[in-house]
Amino acid sequence: MKVLITAGPTREAIDPVRFLSNRSSGRMGFALAEAAAQRHDEVLLVTGPVHLPTPAGVNRIDVTTAEDMYHAVAANLQGVGLAIHSAAVADYRAKQVQTQKFKKKEEEWHLALERTRDILGSMRRPLGFEGCLVGFAAETENILANAQKKLHGKDCDLIVANDVSRPDIGFDQRDNEIILLFRDRDPETLPKASKESLAHQILDRLTPLLPQESSRL
Ligand code: CTP
Repeated sequence: MKVLITAGPTREAIDPVRFLSNRSSGRMGFALAEAAAQRHDEVLLVTGPVHLPTPAGVNRIDVTTAEDMYHAVAANLQGVGLAIHSAAVADYRAKQVQTQKFKKKEEEWHLALERTRDILGSMRRPLGFEGCLVGFAAETENILANAQKKLHGKDCDLIVANDVSRPDIGFDQRDNEIILLFRDRDPETLPKASKESLAHQILDRLTPLLPQESSRL
């Protein structure tokens, strides 16, 4: 089976020297890609700008913006049975990208932002993806309620939620602690562990949800 994973942040240009982005290191997505390559035939990792080596046996496409990531995902969906969207995609981008460097002025700078495309939210429609769909939810409050909304709103089979307000886990940390929200059973907490260990635990839980018995384990 072919597995597609998105990872890392995206970067949205403001002018030739500035951009909007976030604190995602890409570690969780890369750990998932490495673990998936040990179990499945083909793993494609679509990643924003990160400082991580490509895991063994993983095909990698580097992208910069949310729009680039959308097109890379859309162009590579053929044959994908499992799609895991762990990327921290920018929700907004500058409405107008300045072609020249913005020069500071005395007055305030009001930057107009517009929404980027919701890649995970486009998977079922318009992209027509029918395989197992996994999203992430990075929350600072009301974790369960917000993650539930994403599970149903984006028609996912699983949402992996984590509390990004905690300094010891999540963004740019070695470890994470996550809550798994499934469509038809109670949420399950996976206690604090390395992202590598959590990647395997997530894939273990996904095995029964996959389209066919396509796992090598
Ligand atoms: N996602 C995406 N495309 C976007 C934004 C997010 O594919 N433009 C995906 C992420 O990869 C992740 C999930 O959607 O799997 C996060 O859902 P989202 O509702 O966008 O959460 P936040 O970005 O945290 O936004 P908010 O909490 O403000 O709704």
